Amino acid sequence: MESIWTAETEIRKREPLAEDLETQAVVIGAGLAGMLTAYYLEQAGIQAVVLEADRIGSGQTKNTTAKITSQHGLVYDRLIRTFGHSMAKHYAQANEAAIEEYERLVLELGIDCDFVRCPAYLYSQEETVLLKRETEAAKRLGIIASFDTRSELPFPVAGVTKFEGQARFQPLKFLEKLGERVTVHEQTKALKVEGNQVITDRGRITAKHIVFAAHFPFANMPGYYFARMYQERSYVVALEGAGALEGMYLGIDPGGLSFRPQGELLLLGGGSHRTGLNKGGGKYEMLRSKAADLYPDCRESASWSAQDCVTLDGIPYIGCFSRREPEWYVATGFGKWGMTSSMVSARVLTALIAGKDCPEADIFSPKRRFTMQAAKELAIHSGHTVKGLAKHILPAGTGEVIPNCPHMGCRLEWNMDEDSYDCPCHGSRFDKKGRLLDGPAQTDCQRRKGAAQR
Ligand code: FES
Repeated sequence: MESIWTAETEIRKREPLAEDLETQAVVIGAGLAGMLTAYYLEQAGIQAVVLEADRIGSGQTKNTTAKITSQHGLVYDRLIRTFGHSMAKHYAQANEAAIEEYERLVLELGIDCDFVRCPAYLYSQEETVLLKRETEAAKRLGIIASFDTRSELPFPVAGVTKFEGQARFQPLKFLEKLGERVTVHEQTKALKVEGNQVITDRGRITAKHIVFAAHFPFANMPGYYFARMYQERSYVVALEGAGALEGMYLGIDPGGLSFRPQGELLLLGGGSHRTGLNKGGGKYEMLRSKAADLYPDCRESASWSAQDCVTLDGIPYIGCFSRREPEWYVATGFGKWGMTSSMVSARVLTALIAGKDCPEADIFSPKRRFTMQAAKELAIHSGHTVKGLAKHILPAGTGEVIPNCPHMGCRLEWNMDEDSYDCPCHGSRFDKKGRLLDGPAQTDCQRRKGAAQR
């Protein structure tokens, strides 16, 4: 099941790393965050090389719904209460600036990628208090926001929070053009990072600065990101004949849906769950049933799913990887907001590496203050990990794949919707033959002796 972006975009292939080399910065991961970071580093006069285990944009970038928005669910009221007005304002400004910067780049580089400005909305069918509070918080931080009780959605709402001047685009078309200005080695898998060297399956790269931008950092230590982050999956169906929407929408009620127009199509999303907790399946069926209710004349033209890293306090980790490795950097934990977070990462990391002032860096720093919310999430996350590890000792069935995760040993769970083995601990995934689909694991699952070869 491939996304509509993949189906219509062919990105030029790049050569794998041919020999050991030395550069100023090496970026691991050729998704949007990695490619933008390399682009801005080069613009700042810092030579950068990107390493990609597969193809440019072949990770999470190809599966996004590509909303370029500073509206990240109910975030601003919470940020003000938790971190104070000034830090919350930095978060808002960094994300608003990201939208502006996408537009500037699209115009400057002449990128034909369906970039459109449009409003973004949160909606609820049940309540207005949270929406009104979020609207006021956003306004206090300088975002042009408003509350309304009317909407263009095909069902009644109690209210909506509208952010003006947001945007959407075709992410792979954007990446294809941006990639012309970035040095990338595809089919080159980073296996290990030691000091100022990245060891790959094709050779080693020595660099002063090393950026981890491949979704979930594969290095467990230092940094311990596996203990501070989990992954979620969500599902999308692309509908023809569902009619036009001007804006992009996200429901805040339990089970709320996402709506996002793209040309003649409507992308309907939802069904989020912690990776590894979808034994019963039925997520696509749920979306198809909603689509049939809301748009009886629609036809499905594509369906796919996405995987997102979620941090304990909901704010991405962008900055120095760890105190122990001051020249390693990280960009991860974007939640469902990978487009603006990728641009924020590129701008913040470039400023840090170039030694420039960056007032926005503190709110995204992986070393930021540990909050009450983070403490609660840590307890829940640890509970899942302990359970996953404990199941490791139970009988592992008789299938050809031994369903224990090669990352840290948790018992994998079958995902009915995608015929995959998913890890409830940190979100690694494997196909039915045990081949690695998503990290932080770096290798395939073990197979039983005598199991048929691939
Ligand atoms: Fe960490 Fe599976 S992803 S144990």
